[in-house]
Amino acid sequence: MNAKPGFAILFVCLGNICRSPLAEGVFRGVVAEHGREADFSIDSAGTGNWHAGDPPDPRSVAVARRFGVDISGQRARQVRDGDFQRFDLILGMDRDNVRALQTRAPDSAAGKIHLFLDYAGGGMADVPDPYYGGDDGFTAIYHMIREASEALLARLDRRSFSPPIKGQASSTI
Ligand code: 4NP
Repeated sequence: MNAKPGFAILFVCLGNICRSPLAEGVFRGVVAEHGREADFSIDSAGTGNWHAGDPPDPRSVAVARRFGVDISGQRARQVRDGDFQRFDLILGMDRDNVRALQTRAPDSAAGKIHLFLDYAGGGMADVPDPYYGGDDGFTAIYHMIREASEALLARLDRRSFSPPIKGQASSTI
């Protein structure tokens, strides 16, 4: 069995113009490479609203295009209250994003919020904000995001495949 059909994932950063649009596009691409489009609903948002309605930063568009991913049609939006119900998994790009999400989320959604690289098995590391840096920073975060996206899909599949833990099966003894 694959991951739950329509499993909904929201990638979140500060402005929703640099990192999370790239994560949305790259993860979408990884999912497509595996023919799994029908299994996932994928979106991105920012904790801030400064760039709402804007296309992704041209440097994110360029690095994505260089690796065969088109994110130019995306538009930034801020996280909304309804996102905490709608999405099964909400992944912050850095620890500030995770803290901002946790502050805003209802208690019922707290378990859905994780640090992207940590959830993908890469440890407690941030996808650093490349906004004030040069093009190198965008290339670096592309590779982090690509690797984490492959690991994320593998983790979600392992979770769906995992058999019941021994000892939890029903017993009459
Ligand atoms: P992002 O990068 O959170 O990866 O989209 C930023 C974009 C804009 C700003 C900060 C970070 N800003 O301060 O406007």
